[in-house]
Amino acid sequence: MQDNADNIPIVDFHRVHLKYDQGPTVLKNLEFDLKRGSFHFVTGESGAGKTSLLSLMYLDQRPTSGRIQIFGQDLSQVPRSKIPYLRRRIGVVFQDFRLLDHLTTFENVALPLWLAGMKEAEIRRRVNEMLMWVGLERNMRAYPPVLAGGEKQRIAIARAVINRPDLLLADEPTGNVDDEMANRIMYLFNELNKQGTTLLIATHNQEIIRRNDKPRFHLSKGNLEYIPAPSQMYAAQTQGGTR
Ligand SMILES: Nc1ncnc2c1ncn2[C@@H]1O[C@H](COP(=O)(O)OP(=O)(O)O)[C@@H](O)[C@H]1O
Ligand SMILES: [Mg+2]
Repeated sequence: MQDNADNIPIVDFHRVHLKYDQGPTVLKNLEFDLKRGSFHFVTGESGAGKTSLLSLMYLDQRPTSGRIQIFGQDLSQVPRSKIPYLRRRIGVVFQDFRLLDHLTTFENVALPLWLAGMKEAEIRRRVNEMLMWVGLERNMRAYPPVLAGGEKQRIAIARAVINRPDLLLADEPTGNVDDEMANRIMYLFNELNKQGTTLLIATHNQEIIRRNDKPRFHLSKGNLEYIPAPSQMYAAQTQGGTR
């Protein structure tokens, strides 16, 4: 594969439109990329298209027109049979969690490691450590249907990050947990980012945006506006503001 070159963006959108068959045009002419190892938030009101944007990167949704490349591969050229391999490099925290109800908490989180062929002892070690981190060690044997929303959300997060994906897409990942847990989750995401994972996080949480000095993409009326990190804006102002 050619995508190890540092200069190839992890995600690259070129003139991407999305209009649902029975619905509105949600995304208009999007043009942006995500560099390897970058960390961005996605903001915008409810209905602005944040979930739709993430679903395009995960091949849950196809664009109406335009070109999307992930890891240097044009998604329109990826054969159906190869989609699972591509998806294994992407961790996703879905807004509606999408846990497997017939698997326990432990099994849901272990699944990506089983699929990757990791040894059982190593899986147990990693999953136990992760469940401790997100405060689910006592729910290890429970099935998702009996758990609360915040617990399911933490399973979804643990499952998405357990295999240290190349790209992490998280859709309102702290929407169902308290502030302390939200900070723990952000710590986890920052650690993952330090190890090289590219992150894109859709969030409404102003406190999280304020505490994490990251650039963001703001969606409004189908358009995407790039907003630099607060420290970048400050630096630009003190240097005279020209690029
Ligand atoms: N599968 C779908 N079919 C038709 N319309 C959809 C579908 N998914 C989302 N929409 C519509 O697209 C718009 C953007 O939705 P969404 O991407 O979920 O926004 P957000 O995540 O920012 O709240 C909304 O108007 C929503 O009703
Ligand atoms: Mg959404």
